[in-house]
Amino acid sequence: MRKLPWIAPLLALAPCVLAQAATESPTPPPQLGLCAACHGEDGHARIPGAPNLAGQPYQYLLQALHEYRNGERKVPVMRAAAGPLTEQDMQALAHWFSAQSPCKPKQADAP
Ligand code: HEC
Repeated sequence: MRKLPWIAPLLALAPCVLAQAATESPTPPPQLGLCAACHGEDGHARIPGAPNLAGQPYQYLLQALHEYRNGERKVPVMRAAAGPLTEQDMQALAHWFSAQSPCKPKQADAP
């Protein structure tokens, strides 16, 4: 059989392309700016040590924010970031990040 080595990267990319086409992003929440320096507007981390949030389940993100705020997760930077957020803000941010594509963006500035 003829080998088609070029098809492998295309197949690997396909789910990302499809996912991106299928996902409809919500409107960016006003508080996104508080998070973008570390997590990126698109949920792809901008600093070493910050996790990617893109494509994580909504419930997981929301619960994590609750845990930072109530001190169950003791991480000062995130406690400070989550502190001033209302429940509505946290829902909007969790919704936003969960709707972002977990695939690496084209213009990625992360390594
Ligand atoms: C100064 C940098 C910084 C800012 C600003 C920041 N974060 Fe974080 N965030 C982090 C770091 C570092 C962690 C990893 C903490 C840990 O080990 O639990 C984290 C973790 C998280 C997690 C948990 C992810 C996971 O997989 O468990 C969520 C959700 C999150 N941040 C959301 C936000 C939101 C929403 C904002 C804006 C309101 C924000 N962060 C602002 C640095 C930041």
